[in-house]
Amino acid sequence: MKRVFSGVQPTGNIHIGNYLGALKQFVELQNDQECLYCIVDLHSITLPQDPKELRSHTLDVAALYWAVGIDPKKSIIFVQSDVPGHSELAWILTCNAYTGELSRMTQFKDKSRGQESAPAGLFTYPILMAADILLYDTDIVPVGNDQKQHIELCRDIAIRVNNKHKGTFTVPDGRFLKEGARVMALDEPDKKMSKSAENAFSRISLLDDDNKIKKSIMRATTDSDGIIKYNPSEKSGISNLLTIYSAFTGVSIESLEKKYDGCGYGDFKKDLVEAAVTALKPIREQFNEIRHSQELIDALKNGAERANAISEKTMKRVKENFGLGI
Ligand code: AMP
Ligand code: TRP
Repeated sequence: MKRVFSGVQPTGNIHIGNYLGALKQFVELQNDQECLYCIVDLHSITLPQDPKELRSHTLDVAALYWAVGIDPKKSIIFVQSDVPGHSELAWILTCNAYTGELSRMTQFKDKSRGQESAPAGLFTYPILMAADILLYDTDIVPVGNDQKQHIELCRDIAIRVNNKHKGTFTVPDGRFLKEGARVMALDEPDKKMSKSAENAFSRISLLDDDNKIKKSIMRATTDSDGIIKYNPSEKSGISNLLTIYSAFTGVSIESLEKKYDGCGYGDFKKDLVEAAVTALKPIREQFNEIRHSQELIDALKNGAERANAISEKTMKRVKENFGLGI
């Protein structure tokens, strides 16, 4: 069995892009691998957060993990700041990373652009991410393509430390999503669907009600030729809707093209609304059932205990190898 680790930041608006691109994959992996799924609250404070909202979003993501099918009996679900090893290892890795490699990270460049002075945590963000991964001797990290550079950096740091102190870390592999798993914004299908886009109809959030789902899909940008064909470069709108339809139903894009040959966008969209509503309803119901339950808190406490037990072993080895402590 391989060990799998991934994390999602506790921000609101978890959308079908996060679900189809990441969470669904998390669920599939838990059946034959040992999985740890973390809510990375320490990462989210690289930008200012309201304390009440942060805690509420942390519990939202935990409940969503559970509601989409991540089973806390099979997988370890926990909150990053509940395991002190993340911050502790991050410092040790900070001393083994170079400012040059950190300044090349495109996410840092994007997020700090236009700011006169960026928080140092935004700069060292990828080191904390490397610590998350290396702390558990992780073999596989399922993430979106946007995280490729961070995974490479994590591998570089692990190899660098292993060259100095043999056998310290397991060097992980990223498991990246296929291009088709990228869900684009409904209003601007040339951009990725995002949590932060101003137009709420640009995304379908996992907790949207049926009416909002319907409106978002019916308003989605298409083109004027009225042909239901997958061609992301020339027909990005309808191609994105085909991707979403296929991901929700398991029906291949080819079969969908055949089924809707000669039909108009209106009919296609109506059916897609039906498919999305059917897929999201049980998630929303499960979420509402557990979000404010003691069971959720207990699952997170239990997850943190199990994660701590693994991380303490790694930290012991790391400190031993570096000559830290007595
Ligand atoms: P984030 O929204 O950046 O916290 O991402 C959480 C996870 O969802 C990461 O693995 C991302 O790569 C993935 N993700 C985010 N947006 C999309 C999208 N539009 N399509 C597919 N996957 C996405
Ligand atoms: N940086 C990741 C993102 O924005 C979240 C994350 C933090 C993560 N630590 C991780 C993902 C460790 C995988 C493994 O999506």
